[in-house]
Amino acid sequence: MKLLCAVLLCTTSTAIAHASVTHSTFGKLPNGAAVEIYTLKNPSVEMRVMTYGARVVSLATKDRDGKMGNVVLGYDKIEGYLKDSSSYFGSVPGRYANRIALGKFTLEGKQYQIPINNAPNALHGGPDGFASRNWTGKEIPEGVEFTLVSPDGDQGFPGTMTAHVRYTLAGNTVRIVYSATTDKPTVVNLTNHSYFNLAGAGNGTILDEKLTIDADKFTPIDATSIPLGNLAPVAGTPFDFTKPETVGSRIDVDNEQLKHGKGYDHNFVLRGKAGVLRPAAKVYDAKSGRVLTVETSEPGVQFYSGNFLDGSLIGPGGVKYVKRSALCLETQHYPDSPNRPDFPSTELKPGQTYHSETTWTFSN
Ligand code: GLA
Repeated sequence: MKLLCAVLLCTTSTAIAHASVTHSTFGKLPNGAAVEIYTLKNPSVEMRVMTYGARVVSLATKDRDGKMGNVVLGYDKIEGYLKDSSSYFGSVPGRYANRIALGKFTLEGKQYQIPINNAPNALHGGPDGFASRNWTGKEIPEGVEFTLVSPDGDQGFPGTMTAHVRYTLAGNTVRIVYSATTDKPTVVNLTNHSYFNLAGAGNGTILDEKLTIDADKFTPIDATSIPLGNLAPVAGTPFDFTKPETVGSRIDVDNEQLKHGKGYDHNFVLRGKAGVLRPAAKVYDAKSGRVLTVETSEPGVQFYSGNFLDGSLIGPGGVKYVKRSALCLETQHYPDSPNRPDFPSTELKPGQTYHSETTWTFSN
């Protein structure tokens, strides 16, 4: 009987703890618009997400001693985000996350030009993409839904796009569901650009964190970070994370691809069938004992090792975000897909609904 109770108790306590959702004003934009921040909280995770850029502002999880700590880079005031146009901390870049070569693509015989903001290419949907828009927030069960209407011609993209991002919390899992519709043929690629440091944001580099990526191939890039077009095997290269490997063990070896990315800044071709939630990556930090497991329905994940951080961005309490002090695992379609008919398509037509899902599960 005792054993049975213990089992029952255990089942009840690990049964999904409900998340409380509250919101308040985080700050104001120069045009006077209020930026709302939502706090999703249960006993194991506390996440704050705001309307500006549909961004994750902070995400606290337990270390091996049960101590909560924030594991994503960000700022404590809206001004920090407004001054920083290069990091994309916690944001949902769009309408096309990652790069489009020369900012150009052709759709149904018509050429489109996205403004160049990462010469010579367009990055993350152009200089005024979804990451710098004030989305509309709405509480939903266990979370929040952000909505953005992007007008026809926005940053050069055709069609009025209505995009939704839902963040919900269930136990120690954060679920992100993206959807979008359009009234003209267009392209879409949405992701979340959170910078993780499982030892705690601002607490050293991620070079000793152990990473696994469920990918046997990656998309090699040219010197401007545009895929060359081939899918190259990771086996025998510094890109082999099929078994847990520290981020830093091979990051500075003499390798042309690592030179192009100034470290890791590459799309990995995930195993299995896109469209279905399946393992993508895992990060383990021995210092804190924290583990992050990423699952996604996307065909790829951009692993970026924070190479462009240089200590000039300052977080809460004056902490400097130094080179490689965080890593991003941006689940997405491959970069430059609008110019690569052989890559999984990023086209969206009227009447279709784009759907993408990613989960982050925290354990220790
Ligand atoms: C993406 C890109 C990187 C860099 C970061 C933001 O991950 O692939 O090259 O631009 O965004 O700094």
